[in-house]
Amino acid sequence: MNWKLAWIIVIVLPVMVACGQETKKTTATSTSKTTAEKTQTKKPKADPIAAGKRVYNTYCLTCHGQKGNMGASGAHDLTKTKLSLAESIKVITEGRGLMTPHKFLGEEKIKAVAKYIETFKVK
Ligand code: HEC
Repeated sequence: MNWKLAWIIVIVLPVMVACGQETKKTTATSTSKTTAEKTQTKKPKADPIAAGKRVYNTYCLTCHGQKGNMGASGAHDLTKTKLSLAESIKVITEGRGLMTPHKFLGEEKIKAVAKYIETFKVK
């Protein structure tokens, strides 16, 4: 039983330290950080908001802006939208007016980004 854990430490730790060295000089603090991160990221949870944020920053930011209220190309202010989650999903999927359809993202990513833009809403 404990052998498994020992092997994980022996194999994973040097790899993680090596990766850290590639991007920045490893100092005493960053090494201990790596160890802390290792314990935290053991089981990465699927976070729909984080996934939605990635989609948003890639495909939506140019028109809707960082906070959803930039309004480029006449994009509607997402902080003031009265659309429900289902209605937002419809607009994102099919597009509307000058907004292009985003069906290519697939249902899961569309749902994630729709949930993410809900966080812009000012209540
Ligand atoms: C080409 C610029 C552009 C891009 C890219 C874009 N939008 Fe839009 N968006 C618009 C415009 C313009 C409207 C207003 C549509 C209309 O006139 O009915 C709009 C409207 C919306 C609405 C409806 C808001 C309301 O209250 O009516 C939602 C929700 C929305 N966009 C979400 C998104 C998401 C999520 C993405 C990324 C997947 C995205 N948009 C990408 C331009 C864009």
